[in-house]
Amino acid sequence: MDRVKIFDTTLRDGEQSPGCSMNLSEKIEVAKQLELMKVDVIEAGFAISSPGDFESVHTIAKSVKECSVASLARSTVKDIDAAWEAVKVAADPRIHLFIATSPLHMEYKLRMTPEQVLEKTAAMVAYARKYCSNIEFSAEDATRSDWEFLAKVVNVAIANGATVINLPDTVGYTTPTEMRALIEYMVKNTDHAGRAEFSVHCHNDLGMAVANSLAGVLGGARQIECTVNGLGERAGNTALEEVVMAMHTRPDLFESVTTGIDTTRIYRASKTVYNIIGQSAPLNKPIVGKNAFLHESGIHQHGVLANKKTYEILTPESVGIVANNLVLGKHSGKHAFENRLTELGYHLSPEELLACFEEFKALCDKKKTINDEDLEAIVLHKTAVGAMPDDAGYKLDRFVVHTSNFTTSTSTVSLTRDGERFEEVSLGDGPIDASFKAIDKIVNPEAHTFKTYTINSISEGKDTLGDVTVRLAAGGRTYVGKGLSTDIIEASILAYLNAINKMQYAAEKAREE
Ligand code: KIV
Ligand code: ZN
Repeated sequence: MDRVKIFDTTLRDGEQSPGCSMNLSEKIEVAKQLELMKVDVIEAGFAISSPGDFESVHTIAKSVKECSVASLARSTVKDIDAAWEAVKVAADPRIHLFIATSPLHMEYKLRMTPEQVLEKTAAMVAYARKYCSNIEFSAEDATRSDWEFLAKVVNVAIANGATVINLPDTVGYTTPTEMRALIEYMVKNTDHAGRAEFSVHCHNDLGMAVANSLAGVLGGARQIECTVNGLGERAGNTALEEVVMAMHTRPDLFESVTTGIDTTRIYRASKTVYNIIGQSAPLNKPIVGKNAFLHESGIHQHGVLANKKTYEILTPESVGIVANNLVLGKHSGKHAFENRLTELGYHLSPEELLACFEEFKALCDKKKTINDEDLEAIVLHKTAVGAMPDDAGYKLDRFVVHTSNFTTSTSTVSLTRDGERFEEVSLGDGPIDASFKAIDKIVNPEAHTFKTYTINSISEGKDTLGDVTVRLAAGGRTYVGKGLSTDIIEASILAYLNAINKMQYAAEKAREE
């Protein structure tokens, strides 16, 4: 069987899309999940793009042992130097350099002739190859390039030492038939045998990224570039979970290839990424959406009861969703709690376990039964990695709101910081607005834009936990705040405070530097 390598670019192409920025500790957490899932390559960032990006590529390169770590670089000496400096400590470092090859990009973006692009490709691949033997070359906008010219570029890249040739569908323009034909053409018309493998990198502008990647594999590609949850510029990239499970579910169509992915880690990785960027899966998202394995209609339920395979082509267990058959309550002890978390795939440190257990006990006083969704929400909130130490920032002490549908709402919020207590009152357009304004009076935050506020119920029932996410933008960064409570005003205050604290902490650090 041929291995189709999974190259994950959640931390580069995914992270560079608006609203998906992550701080260093969040990136390390994602890298940990990717390593556990056994991806082959982690593209950790674009080292030259900022000191922060350089630091995160370097830190991930140092900590990841089981897979290759890559940094992106344009085809320039400066970019390649920075990429190498950042990844050279990795167990298996890779430099990933690119240049555009389509007529449009060459003329208007690069202002270079095709001959100049060929020369640059030769010179820069050779330059990168002096540093390391694992060199990926990408022909940006390959799917809108002239195939004959593209084959020349590919040959030049291989002749100068590229070991992976990536042909991106940069603008999500191609179709499966065309993608397969392109890869077949390159396999046939380039001198790659025994020297380099082909890779596909598809964007999802027309909703075909996964299909195009699979077609590329059928054409002979042996690496797929993708992101967890399909994150990425515009409509996103190929979704890792979808492309992997498609191959896994249809070995009859992909009979000669396999991936090395531990599919049972998919759900957890997806949750981690959504939680960090402050989003949740659309209900009908393939593989990881809440409804992906639900069978509501009578006909389907009848069929599934008779034989699961009637309507189920893959099992929830295969992607790490554990059957929801146990509820915990106020009489459940720490062992039962820990056992259930282990079954759900969470292995916590003793401190994290204690913090989560305390939160669980507090929730038991408000809610009769606690199911897996509640448990996961508690763990994700309590163990969320942030850019600041746990004891930094303001903490909620208490709040009182007065509200009705015929008066202006009032909120009194009391916060503590470093042992001091602060209290303010504010009017507002509803109790949440009033509370946020009271917090602003205390904190006097940096100038920012309030981007989004979302609230989700964690489980069924009127006493469900409310899971609030607030996203603020300041200085080109997004700050995601999360709050969890059976009281939605409290959840909202916690989420806003969490985002404000992160923003203030980043501003204070920037001033110190
Ligand atoms: O979409 C694209 O072309 C890319 C390349 C830089 C690989 O992300
Ligand atoms: Zn891309």
